[in-house]
Amino acid sequence: MIEAKYTSPDGTVVLYHADALDVLPQLAPASIDAVVTDPPYYNGWHCNGVSSRRGDSNISIPFFRQYFAEIKRACKLCRAVYVFTDWRTNDFFMRVMSEFMEVRNSLVWLKNLGTGYTYQNSYESILFHCESGRKIISSNVINGIKSFNGGAKKTNGERVHPTQKPVELIEKLILDSTQAGMTVLDTFMGSGTTAIGCIRQGRKFIGCEVDANYFDIAVRRIEAELAKRQQACVAAPPQVPTGAA
Ligand SMILES: C[S@@+](CC[C@H](N)C(=O)[O-])C[C@H]1O[C@@H](n2cnc3c(N)ncnc32)[C@H](O)[C@@H]1O
Repeated sequence: MIEAKYTSPDGTVVLYHADALDVLPQLAPASIDAVVTDPPYYNGWHCNGVSSRRGDSNISIPFFRQYFAEIKRACKLCRAVYVFTDWRTNDFFMRVMSEFMEVRNSLVWLKNLGTGYTYQNSYESILFHCESGRKIISSNVINGIKSFNGGAKKTNGERVHPTQKPVELIEKLILDSTQAGMTVLDTFMGSGTTAIGCIRQGRKFIGCEVDANYFDIAVRRIEAELAKRQQACVAAPPQVPTGAA
């Protein structure tokens, strides 16, 4: 049994410094409302202490088959699942995810970065699953949210992870598919961006990160965000109704 290494004082943020595949089987069946996660891209992922490379399908295919089977088990039927990919990993994730759940859309986040050598990487894809019949009134092209190479520092502060996502992007996905008090899971949390989005939008959060340095960075960001929220509550206490007839 892997114990959570960090739990916020109000219990709404629970973090595991561990491999996602070791934590997922511990989650209660049908306990998660949404998954927003950003698996490692080109440089491979860690599995039982082994660092895989993109072409290592003998590690990556069994890893992600077990992963999506566990995601399906841990999520409620009305789940929403968002998986970040790019042009290098999109085909791989599309195939493995589809074995366990229908990929209902591929969102495109436009980073508007201009030009570069051999074409600038100016977009990321986000594979999306939800149960059939669910309505989300939005376009599958997300525009106007800056990446860290394009100005996100102004709204997010310094970049603390090489593939850090802007909080505004994660908040949009959370708002599209969950309501206040629901539980969001990020199994590859990196610097904890999904957790920050959840705190800002009043969602509960469960996260895993295998790297000790990024885990500590995530804890520091989360504690700073919780402190900011606490200060805002003290500065503006909830309004008490005046009892007008
Ligand atoms: C693409 S990054 C996520 C960055 C994140 N979106 C952010 O904004 O900071 C993926 C993270 O997954 C972590 N990781 C890799 N393999 C893992 C595993 N098996 N279990 C949990 N975390 C893992 C890596 O250390 C890395 O920090």
